[in-house]
Amino acid sequence: MKIFKTSSDMRAWSDSMHKAGETISFVPTMGYLHEGHLSLMEQGTNISSALVVSIFVNPTQFGENEDLDAYPTNIERDLNLIKSKGAKAAFLPDRKEIYPENYQTYVTLEQLPNHLCGLSRPVHFRGVATIVSKLFNIVRPDAAIFGTKDFQQLQVIRQLNRDLNFGINIIGAPIVRESDGLAMSSRNAYLKPDQRDSALSLSKACSKVKEMVKAGEKNASRIKSHVKEFIESFPDTQIDYLSICNPDTLNEVEEIDREVLFALAVQVGRARLIDNILV
Ligand code: PAJ
Repeated sequence: MKIFKTSSDMRAWSDSMHKAGETISFVPTMGYLHEGHLSLMEQGTNISSALVVSIFVNPTQFGENEDLDAYPTNIERDLNLIKSKGAKAAFLPDRKEIYPENYQTYVTLEQLPNHLCGLSRPVHFRGVATIVSKLFNIVRPDAAIFGTKDFQQLQVIRQLNRDLNFGINIIGAPIVRESDGLAMSSRNAYLKPDQRDSALSLSKACSKVKEMVKAGEKNASRIKSHVKEFIESFPDTQIDYLSICNPDTLNEVEEIDREVLFALAVQVGRARLIDNILV
């Protein structure tokens, strides 16, 4: 497996692969890999002849009081995992390579960030859209795979792919969970053992919403107030948002008469956790 640290080396390799008739799939990550990331890589090797994985903890998508400096890393372990999934190349730029002095250009979307996580993380999707655009230009993939765990992020990337004519096949992959239902996340490393139960309130809330809708409940406010009470019954939980929305626009829905997204973010101790389900 090739390991590239500079954009020019990465791009030269991608260009030569394309010339040789290879197809490139791409999985961008911030490292500290888990089964969720690995499932995206498996999809990548299935649909292309060359998988590229990047690891870059992108500073511009973290707010001032967020966990940029605490974000967990384990590069050596990550590289072994990436290799074991059959990747042909890993891209590991440093911060100066991506954001050199006098860096000025950012990608912002007008509407999708004004919902869900974007409301409490105002610079987050600007950072995500910028780094993903840059990575797309450097890696030049035919397809890129993202997890539906970060549903809003996936929609932001689909939109920027259309708006900026990247022409990349954007693939959404299902949420990978621990055996108890907790959605896998690098940030689960922040959970203390006694906060595990509280962390499970998110996936349990998703199941509850599914059951309520299946039982015929159509009123989003009633569902949300029921779920709010449920989550607040767990210690150490602080709800950021509970949303029942249109999966394409992310606009809140009051009467459930078509497929909706239930999405939530909850602070459990030091960990800000998210989860979602389409119902
Ligand atoms: P990161 O949190 O490392 O996630 C990388 C990819 O893994 C994302 O597409 C995310 O949705 C996916 N993923 C995370 N947990 C998952 C799970 N439990 N099941 C399935 N997929 C999962 O998301 C980012 O990094 C960054 O914002 C990035 C896109 C790399 C831009 O910096």
